[in-house]
Amino acid sequence: MSKMIIEGGRSLNGEVSVHGSKNAVLPILAATVLNGSRNIIHNCPRIKDVFSSIEILKGLGCGIVWEGNTLTVDSASISTQFIPETLMREMRSSIIFLGAMIARHRKVTISMPGGCELGPRPIDLHLKAFRQLGITVEESHGYINCEVGDICGDDIHLDFPSVGATENIMLVAALAKGVTTITNAAKEPEIADLQSYLNKMGARISGAGTAAITIEGVPALGEVEHTVIPDRIVAATYLCATAIAGGKVSVTNVVPTHIQSIISALKDCGCRIRQDGANTLTVEALGRPLPIDYIRTLPYPGFPTDAQSPVMSVLSIADGTSIVTENMFENRFKHVTELNRMGADIVVDGRIAVVKGVKRLSGAKTTATDLRGAAALIIAGLSADGITEVDGLCHLDRGYEGFDTGLKSLGAEIKRVD
Ligand code: EPZ
Repeated sequence: MSKMIIEGGRSLNGEVSVHGSKNAVLPILAATVLNGSRNIIHNCPRIKDVFSSIEILKGLGCGIVWEGNTLTVDSASISTQFIPETLMREMRSSIIFLGAMIARHRKVTISMPGGCELGPRPIDLHLKAFRQLGITVEESHGYINCEVGDICGDDIHLDFPSVGATENIMLVAALAKGVTTITNAAKEPEIADLQSYLNKMGARISGAGTAAITIEGVPALGEVEHTVIPDRIVAATYLCATAIAGGKVSVTNVVPTHIQSIISALKDCGCRIRQDGANTLTVEALGRPLPIDYIRTLPYPGFPTDAQSPVMSVLSIADGTSIVTENMFENRFKHVTELNRMGADIVVDGRIAVVKGVKRLSGAKTTATDLRGAAALIIAGLSADGITEVDGLCHLDRGYEGFDTGLKSLGAEIKRVD
């Protein structure tokens, strides 16, 4: 099993660039099913979740060409409406293919997506919305069978601003008859990027980034070329890495407005963060981080759940106590036991973690069990005394391209052993 080996104690200095957004490109890859044509996607990260999505697209009969970080998908010759269980289980977010597949084929069978390390990942909001649009949805023997004649636009209110449900409704309604509205929609930047992609195909969608989205169905969609937005969580992770290790780092290819909540939190920790030009943030960590009284994860633009574990690594060496509440997922504190193995003093009670900062972590052998937890343990190792090992890198590889290379370019003593 691959592992990362980090020798702590080195500060980070220099410049690092952020790759394209995993959570933007995954729904965009599902959208390529819609146009039966060519899709040129620039700034596509070479990460495991993208490779898994490509396997699904290939299995459907799509043509795939990689050139650097440009991916071309040709969905003209899709020959099946079935996604096998193995591929569906490999990546929980593959449920995002369902909406696009229904819109294209009107009859689709896919395996129920598995849960994941964050806990059960229900899809009730997705299926409720599909039924409201006139789609027959039957769940049996672990499979979801969907069938529809005409998809009829309707007004959909989401009980919770689910990112995936919002995206699936946009995808299925793009080719519907009539107008679909979504209220209480998720407002994440990745939703706006999906709207931009679909509109370049010829869709008529507005309101993404707000709680009210309108999709006016069109009869067909055409070729598209698009550049994926930067990954705001990877950007946040590099900022946290600097906050914990010390030093001065310029993070380029970021959209500062996408990570205001992280910038605010790290300023509360005593970091100096300034914007240098449109797409660069420079962070300077001048000493031991300060604690943050209270962090609670919320839907965007609130503090993102995906940045909870990297920020917790920073708080684990803060000069005081911080309280972190994880409101989005029921099992997203698994990195805590591993941080405590490194000498952190964190107590978890349900959805609340009390983080008593310690002066310094100590290097240890640790195991990652989820994507963002893996990144959190690696950056914790940057400041720990001695050697830290992080295995379970299959989780990290789902969403970080070249994370060790990036940290090494900033002066970290880190190497990957496969
Ligand atoms: C997206 O997951 C992201 N994944 C997650 O990022 C992110 O943590 C999450 O949004 C929240 O921001 C992708 O975009 C691929 P949700 P998603 O539907 O769409 C409940 C990462 O690390 N819910 O907004 O699955 C659900 O259980 C990953 O990059 C229902 O109850 O998130 C959860 O508690 C992890 N019923 C909450 O809503 C539903 O039908 C948020 O889920 C759907 C969701």
